[in-house]
Amino acid sequence: MTSLFKQVSRIVQGVRILGAGLVIQSALYPFRKAYYNAKFHDGGNSSLRGWLGILDALRNPQVSPLTPADCTFPGDVRAVRVDRRAVELSCDNAVVRLTVLAEDLIRVRLSPTGEFPPPFSYAVTREDADWPTVDFAFHESKEAVEIRTARLTCRVTKSPCRLTFLDLDGAVISADAAGMGWRGERVACWKTLGPDEHLYGLGEKALGLDKRGMAFEMWNRDPQTYSPGDDPIYLNIPFLLGLREGRGYGIFYDNTFRSWFDLGAGQEDVVRFEAAGGELRYYFFYGPELTTVLDRYTELTGRMIMPPLWALGYHQNRWSYYPEARVREIAHEFRARRIPCDSIHLDIHYMDGYRCFTWNRRHFPDPARMIADLGEQGFKVVVMIDAGIKADPKYWVCAEGLEQGMFCTYPDGRIFGGPVWPGECHFPDFTSPRVRAWWGELYRGLVEMGVAGVWNDMNEPVVIGFQGDTFPDCVRHDWEGQGADHRQAHNVYGMQMARATAEGLMRLRPDERPLVITRSAWAGAQRYCMNWTADNQSTWPQLKLTMPMVMTLGLCGMAFSGPDTGGFSGTPDGELLTRWMQLGVFTPFFRNHTAILTGDQEPWVHGEPYTTINRRFVELRYRLLPYVYTAFWQCAQSGLPIMRPLLLGWQDDPRTHALDDEFLFGDAFLVAPIGEPGATSRQVYLPAGTWYDFWSDAVYVGGRDVLVDAPLERMPLFVRAGSVIPMWPVMQYVGQRPVDVLTLHVYPGDGESWLYEDDGHSWACQRGEYRLTRFTLRREGGALELRCQIEGSYTPTYDRYRVVVHGVEHEPRRVTADGQPVAEWTFDAESRQLRFNVIKIRPPRSPVETHRCKLCRICCKFPSRKGHTRPRRSG
Ligand code: GLC
Repeated sequence: MTSLFKQVSRIVQGVRILGAGLVIQSALYPFRKAYYNAKFHDGGNSSLRGWLGILDALRNPQVSPLTPADCTFPGDVRAVRVDRRAVELSCDNAVVRLTVLAEDLIRVRLSPTGEFPPPFSYAVTREDADWPTVDFAFHESKEAVEIRTARLTCRVTKSPCRLTFLDLDGAVISADAAGMGWRGERVACWKTLGPDEHLYGLGEKALGLDKRGMAFEMWNRDPQTYSPGDDPIYLNIPFLLGLREGRGYGIFYDNTFRSWFDLGAGQEDVVRFEAAGGELRYYFFYGPELTTVLDRYTELTGRMIMPPLWALGYHQNRWSYYPEARVREIAHEFRARRIPCDSIHLDIHYMDGYRCFTWNRRHFPDPARMIADLGEQGFKVVVMIDAGIKADPKYWVCAEGLEQGMFCTYPDGRIFGGPVWPGECHFPDFTSPRVRAWWGELYRGLVEMGVAGVWNDMNEPVVIGFQGDTFPDCVRHDWEGQGADHRQAHNVYGMQMARATAEGLMRLRPDERPLVITRSAWAGAQRYCMNWTADNQSTWPQLKLTMPMVMTLGLCGMAFSGPDTGGFSGTPDGELLTRWMQLGVFTPFFRNHTAILTGDQEPWVHGEPYTTINRRFVELRYRLLPYVYTAFWQCAQSGLPIMRPLLLGWQDDPRTHALDDEFLFGDAFLVAPIGEPGATSRQVYLPAGTWYDFWSDAVYVGGRDVLVDAPLERMPLFVRAGSVIPMWPVMQYVGQRPVDVLTLHVYPGDGESWLYEDDGHSWACQRGEYRLTRFTLRREGGALELRCQIEGSYTPTYDRYRVVVHGVEHEPRRVTADGQPVAEWTFDAESRQLRFNVIKIRPPRSPVETHRCKLCRICCKFPSRKGHTRPRRSG
């Protein structure tokens, strides 16, 4: 009954959003798809088979997972060949090739034919020859073959051929169970799952961090709004991280076909990864720290590009702001209410009948003018571009695409079509370099009008079927000239669309870093774009789900991500919106967005006290921008996520292994959002170390749970002792005025902190125009010493630091800055904060010089390392 009700309300909702015509087209699409799949099955072309295919589709046949009993395995190793980089094992039924790419990275390939063509991959950025050669020891005995690098051993038993990865002490990191097998085109690998093992990753998954005991499908799909547990959704990355008895490892399964990961769901001590086709090729990474695995994974698949700084500000969106007067009104409200905001996004209604790269001139008579006016008020405009191009030969994009053969086709060369927002659409084949070049150029008009960023949607790719659908398997793709069908190209379609967009924007605006937001992607997409977690719901469970989802994306290289803050489908009440805005401050992407036919969701819609609280939190994001930008820079250097699970800092602490409801934001913050209605306090797990309560400066010793107050105006937030947090003054948007002073919030303890700065928008940073400051904080006896080391040739606009030292028990006896006594300081005994200025920071004299100085030394008493001082309110 409920499900019937759901179906009916889905149809009603669909008709309201899409119109009856499109609903009918969509309802018929699955049959059309089945027809073409059957018609062109196995390279044939038979209409009769097509019609029979429709009947077959009605039966909805299910594919069952492969079992070892179904498969052929390599058998025994008969001969071994070793070269500079690789070991090739010729077995009874296949050849296995192990290539040592780095001390902690080995690639495994299986070939039943014995052929190993160069491994083409959309994810991997490096040719084998580009990896420096690594020395490894090779040892062969009657029973086994061993490859030993300076970091790990790969042991292959000969009878049968099975792989085990061990650390140098001989402890198992990961081992084959049945090992690698195949049946027809399908390939699978079975590995053992240790009793204490935890598993993470796989891209965008609407579940908790630790994925042990669950099974997943890897097939990018539009679920048309999702609930916790729905799988698969928009963006899948076949990268699995494991933690077995303290040893962190990674497996990247470089296969774009529809695939499955069973992580102990079918059999509790076995992991299976399987694909519907393609090569069995995976990369094995060893840590033991998971951070080392991430570093290497992002070396292999590419690092996140540094976004423009304004993209780290607050974004406002809805489906859709129109007409122009409404967009201007939203902009005006932000400035009048003094709620900082950098960007307004235009969803599909800005277009003319949902035709990409056009404007609805009735609603937006002069877009360039509007964008310029918004620009004067400090707003950047981001526009949506979908994958489907309306099949209308009178529409210039479609006409060009048809004329130049840019769209995906059926095997007989006819152009494939299916319904999306504008009705029947054609779809550019983004796996073709020629199509990507054309697509990139299509943005010229938008760029000339001043559009600052692009939001690529519906690129799973979606054809609006009854349940959200996609192309038939038989649709052809260029695949960089090698040819492939949709089974192989599906999962990279969105990523290649985002790539075409990013490359286009970079050609059109060579001096600016692009902002491309994509809904769908695959491994390695961080090189081109960021993503958002799309059509969630305005519910408390979904607020909580944001955390493991964004953390998991970060573990898979897609660290610049965030949810529709406030929720997409439904309308949040004031409390839910405020709690979500608080969390949004600490998600890498901070954008409020809601669906069509929902209530307004701007930060002020619920009146007081919500508006004031929302404003304060958005202001906090803006104050923290130099810190946030530095966290992005770290990610771009080493793949360390911006929003991090605690396990990345405390891998040996079992409490962190499945912790879904708190996270680290950059190096210093521990964030514990409120995910329950009416809550005014919550339990927070603080890992080992000393922590300051951000709001009260109370000091806590970690390694335990603490109960913290969380009235609506506060979200539990802690700072790691020993941190220096750089903050800017509040601005209404990035670059509103030059920053004249940088405030350094110092949290006494021993530690190192970083500050990365550059011009925030161009590529000059790649030519050395950046400034990297390393702050070192040390407590020695009764003194606290802050040193800094500066490198790089970028000169920020400020020339002094305001130093705020937290948790100072008594007024200091002496404060010195750069060796000289500081004449003036203020000390507030109530808040226990000490404030003073350090004037004139001497920059390095040349770009190659590193300037070191003892920034300040404070002689006074600081909270002890142990114990818990009285909480006090900060001033
Ligand atoms: C999709 C997107 C959503 C957008 C809508 C209309 O559902 O995920 O963010 O608002 O399409 O373009």
